[in-house]
Amino acid sequence: MELIDGKKIADAVKQEIALEVESIRVAGGKIPHLCAILVGHDGASETYVGHKEKSCAQVGFKSTLLRFEDTISEADLLAEIIKVNDDDDIDGLIVQMPLPKHINEQKIIEAINPKKDVDGFHPINVGRMVIGLPAYISATPDGIMELLRRYSIPTAGKRCVVIGRSNIVGRPMANLLSHKGTPGDCTVTICHSRTQNMKEVCLEADIIVAALGKPEFLTADMVKEGATVIDVGITRVASNKTKNGWKLVGDVKFDEVAPKCSFITPVPGGVGPMTIVSLMKNTLMAAKREIY
Ligand code: GUN
Repeated sequence: MELIDGKKIADAVKQEIALEVESIRVAGGKIPHLCAILVGHDGASETYVGHKEKSCAQVGFKSTLLRFEDTISEADLLAEIIKVNDDDDIDGLIVQMPLPKHINEQKIIEAINPKKDVDGFHPINVGRMVIGLPAYISATPDGIMELLRRYSIPTAGKRCVVIGRSNIVGRPMANLLSHKGTPGDCTVTICHSRTQNMKEVCLEADIIVAALGKPEFLTADMVKEGATVIDVGITRVASNKTKNGWKLVGDVKFDEVAPKCSFITPVPGGVGPMTIVSLMKNTLMAAKREIY
């Protein structure tokens, strides 16, 4: 069994990005600039946005955080997005989700200029990805593709099961794995809450991506000997063994699944660090106008 070290790969990719930013700076080119919009004070969102700002600083990007109270109206938030769309210095814009209930998230996503949509959530980017055109790809599935690539995990002709059908992970993940190329060329099945015989479906898989958000859902009896298991889950659960009283748990029952695997990602330190790196990669591409 080989542990996939997402932290190590993420640090290596960040180093590559930092070197490129430095050469852009020396050449007098455009320094990538990411803008994050954060509405309200959700604890997890604060943490994510904090990590994104820190990563921007590490690779030499400019970053701007625009904060609004959760009482902001949808119309006012839309107006703020238009301002960022029109700001030529800003290359990438993310609006941290979830948003307060009175704001229609889809409407907000669709207001972002697809050329600045470094989260890859806009239907134009999703559609372009599906038909294999250059596009900003949602950070978590993009980060997982990078892990498969850097660990040279065989994917061609392999059976993959993606558990979870969210717009930002499950669906794009299944799509990317089915594309031509390396990694790719997989035979993909998406499982979800209405799937029948999920255990039997999973037992067929050479690669399982668990992205349903249920702690320790994937157990050893669902995993074939020698499979690769990618764990996207991150749920905070109470723990009396840690100082802060909680720990992060993935969607995989790691201790019993790991011994059966050829490769597996831990939580934390697996997929998580790669997600932010993909956002940095997308922002660099935006500054270089590589996609549009
Ligand atoms: N909320 C949870 N994950 C994400 C993400 O990748 N991007 C944004 N904007 N919000 C999120």
